[in-house]
Amino acid sequence: MSAHFDLRPLVAADHEATARLLHRSLVHWYQSHLGQGARFGPSHEPFRLFPAVYAELDRGHAMAACDRASGELLGVCFVHPRKTHVAVGIVATAPEAQGRGVARAMLTPVIAQARRDQLPVRLVSSLLNLDSFSLYSRLGFVPHTLYQDLTLAVPTTGLPGPAPTDANRVRLVTDLKEAARLAAFELKLHGLHREPDYAFFLRNQVGDWRVSVLEDAHGTLTGFLVASHHPSCVMLGPGVARDEAVAVALLWSALDAMRGSSPVFLVPCAAAALIRQCYVWGARNVELHAAQTLGPIPPARGLSFPTFLPESG
Ligand SMILES: CC(C)(COP(=O)(O)OP(=O)(O)OC[C@H]1O[C@@H](n2cnc3c(N)ncnc32)[C@H](O)[C@@H]1OP(=O)(O)O)[C@@H](O)C(=O)NCCC(=O)NCCS
Repeated sequence: MSAHFDLRPLVAADHEATARLLHRSLVHWYQSHLGQGARFGPSHEPFRLFPAVYAELDRGHAMAACDRASGELLGVCFVHPRKTHVAVGIVATAPEAQGRGVARAMLTPVIAQARRDQLPVRLVSSLLNLDSFSLYSRLGFVPHTLYQDLTLAVPTTGLPGPAPTDANRVRLVTDLKEAARLAAFELKLHGLHREPDYAFFLRNQVGDWRVSVLEDAHGTLTGFLVASHHPSCVMLGPGVARDEAVAVALLWSALDAMRGSSPVFLVPCAAAALIRQCYVWGARNVELHAAQTLGPIPPARGLSFPTFLPESG
C-alpha cells in the first residue's frame, strides 16, 4: 500500500466522518473548479443518509482509506456487488488528500475482485467533474450512455397540462415479492440484476422510498420507477421503462406525488420526446452524467433512470 494511508472496510463508527468527508470533498471540488460548492448545501447532515443506506444495502463492502499516522478518514468508496455486475459509487477523497492516488488505490482491489468474478464494473460519472471522469477513464472504464440531470420545481397545484396517457394506471407497490419481478424485468431489458436493491426499497426501513409500476392491459410489467422522498435526497430513480411513453407516465406520476418539492432525476439524452416533455413541465438542466463500464456492456432495450443513491450505473 501507499506510504501514507491504509485501506480497510468502512464500519459504522466511520459514518459521521463519512458524511463530513462526502460533503467537504464535494463542496471543495465543485467550488474550486466550478464555483458551485453551494449546490451541496451548508451542512454535512443530509449526507448521513449515504453511509446509512449503503450499510443496510451492502454491509461490509464499502472501502475506507485512512491516514496511517492519525487514522483519519481520507477517502471512501461504496461498492455494490450484484450477480450480473459490480456497481461503484460514491467515490470521494478528502480535499487535502486529493491527487495522491487515494481514489485509484480504493478502486484497484474492487476491480481486481470483479475481474476474478468475471463481472463488469459499472458506475455513473459526472461530466462536469473531469477529475472523476479521468480517474475512471484511466482505469479502463468506457462511457456508453449519456444522461441529463434535470430538476423540476413541482408546483403545489401539480404539473402543467394534461396527465399523460396511462398515468392513471401507474400504481404504488409495497409487497416484498415485487422485488423479484422488478429485477427480472430489468434483467430482460438491460442485462442487469439487482434484486437486493428492490427488496431494500420495498422494505423501506432506511430512507423513504416509493416504488411505482406500470403494467399493460394483460398485467405485464412495462416499467417501474423508485422515488426517494427523504428530505436529504429528493430524487427519482432507479427505474426502467419499456419505451418513452411508459417513462412519461411513470415520471409524471412520481413528480405529481412530489408537489412543492424540487426532485432531481437523470434521463437518457437519447430519449428526445421524454426530454421535450420534461421541459414542458418546467424541468431545468443541472448536470450531465455518463454511464461508464469496465468490461462488457450488455445490450440495452428501453430506457433506464439511474440514481446516485444507491449508485445504479
Ligand atoms: C474524483 C476524486 C474522487 C479523485 O480522487 P483522488 O484521490 O484525487 O484521485 P487519484 O489521486 O487516485 O487520481 C486518479 C487518477 O486521475 C488522474 N487525473 C486527475 N485529473 C485528471 C485530468 N483532468 N486528466 C487526466 N487525468 C487526471 C490522476 O493523474 C490519477 O491517474 P493515475 O493514477 O494514472 O496517475 C476526487 O477529486 C474527489 O473526491 N472529488 C470530489 C468528490 C467527487 O466528485 N467524487 C466523484 C463523483 S461521486
